[in-house]
Amino acid sequence: MVSKVIPVDDFDLVIFGGTGDLARRKILPGLFRRFIAGQMPSTSRIIGAARSDIDSDGFRDLVKDAIAEFGGPDLQDKDELPAFLAQLEYVAIDAKGDAGWPELAGLVRKQLVNAFYFSVAPSLFGDLAKRLHQHDITDATSRIVVEKPFGRDLETAKALNATLSDFFDEGQIYRIDHYLGKETVQNLMAVRFGNVLFEPLWNAKYIDHIQITVAETVGVGGRGTYYDRSGAMRDMVQNHLMQLLCLIAMEPPSQFEPDAVRDEKLKVIRALQPVEPHQMVRGQYDASDETPSYRDDAENPRSHTESFVALKTHIANFRWAGVPFYLRTGKRMTTRASEIAVVFKPIAHSIFGPVEDGNNVLAIQLQPNEGITLDVTIKEPGPGGMRLVNVPLDMTFAEALGPEAEAPEAYERLIMDVIRGNQTLFMRGDEVEAAWEWTDPLIAGWEARNDVPKPYDTGSMGPLDAHALMHRDNRQWREVKG
Ligand code: BG6
Repeated sequence: MVSKVIPVDDFDLVIFGGTGDLARRKILPGLFRRFIAGQMPSTSRIIGAARSDIDSDGFRDLVKDAIAEFGGPDLQDKDELPAFLAQLEYVAIDAKGDAGWPELAGLVRKQLVNAFYFSVAPSLFGDLAKRLHQHDITDATSRIVVEKPFGRDLETAKALNATLSDFFDEGQIYRIDHYLGKETVQNLMAVRFGNVLFEPLWNAKYIDHIQITVAETVGVGGRGTYYDRSGAMRDMVQNHLMQLLCLIAMEPPSQFEPDAVRDEKLKVIRALQPVEPHQMVRGQYDASDETPSYRDDAENPRSHTESFVALKTHIANFRWAGVPFYLRTGKRMTTRASEIAVVFKPIAHSIFGPVEDGNNVLAIQLQPNEGITLDVTIKEPGPGGMRLVNVPLDMTFAEALGPEAEAPEAYERLIMDVIRGNQTLFMRGDEVEAAWEWTDPLIAGWEARNDVPKPYDTGSMGPLDAHALMHRDNRQWREVKG
């Protein structure tokens, strides 16, 4: 199986915040990977723009170090590195003043595809948009890419959307949620809509419930100040888990085209039911022998911010009436593993008598091992009568498709989509606002109740109450594997 690399048009990509953490960890190593894959035309350029007072050579050194540190084994000692670095430029820029803007205007070639990645604090989005406009660097064909967090509630998200729309049309704004760039997330759509098997069963008649787990082993150390103002609900649920839920639950779009897909996702978010306090559990990790507690990481001894959240919600429409969606995510959990599990109802009548745990489950593993399994009931081989067992039909992609099918990382794919001008995997402004509209009352609710998150052990799957949330419904969380 040979991966196909579709060439893109010649481009100038400006990365504001080009010396920052995200650029060094993800964006620049990702672009180098695309360069090696032959996807970056030799006259295209990546222009770093940030406050640091360095020149283009200084930036090239910084990118070289970033690739060495964060690039992973596949990017080390590559002969292509000098050629890649030669396509980089740098401009020292002041987002709030005029310094650097004329130089940037001189560099960006308007006749090419030009894109501007705002890898900076959202408080600077407005300044950047305004100055790009004032210095006549952008036009109606330019694209801007903005990172999460997109606001911290409905009001701030609306304000951000309004600011950006003063200078750019919706069709020029690419709001990144990197979960949409993950290979398996797109495979979820391929499996649902590309096979005859699943769609007829994809409804309340056959599906018992859906679980979405995004478990991480990292803590919040190093970014405690940001995180403590955010918490798992704002940092993960409002965006990443919400997007996964949308793709699982949406109606089939008429075509795989940006607005057709985003219209369907929006309908899901708008149909999401409020979550009652007893349907939600918030947690905060304790210290272990080796690692600090959440409150130490956040440097806030009285913090009430959650590093874990589990909740149950419903989607009020014909397809999903009565089907619970259980979501959970947290830091410092047992293992790093993300999974969406579609748990089907038991068969209407078992001719073999009671079958324990016999539900069919379609499990979509996002990471670390990308793949899809379908649990089916079969006869245990050998003598001894009809003993039934549940075994997974396993489509671990690395095994099924071979190492050459190695997928680009989420950021690489999404940046290439920006260059191609394809917004399908980016959030539209109304989607982000609708997501906040659902999230805001939950947050306001626990703030009004002065809810204190439940402590949980580092290396566990969250507070016991999160298990009780399932047990009360005679269900249980699946064991996710790292
Ligand atoms: C980010 C969150 O958006 O996603 C982080 O801000 C989180 O808190 C990260 O760790 C998880 O991304 P991934 O791709 O490692 O699952």
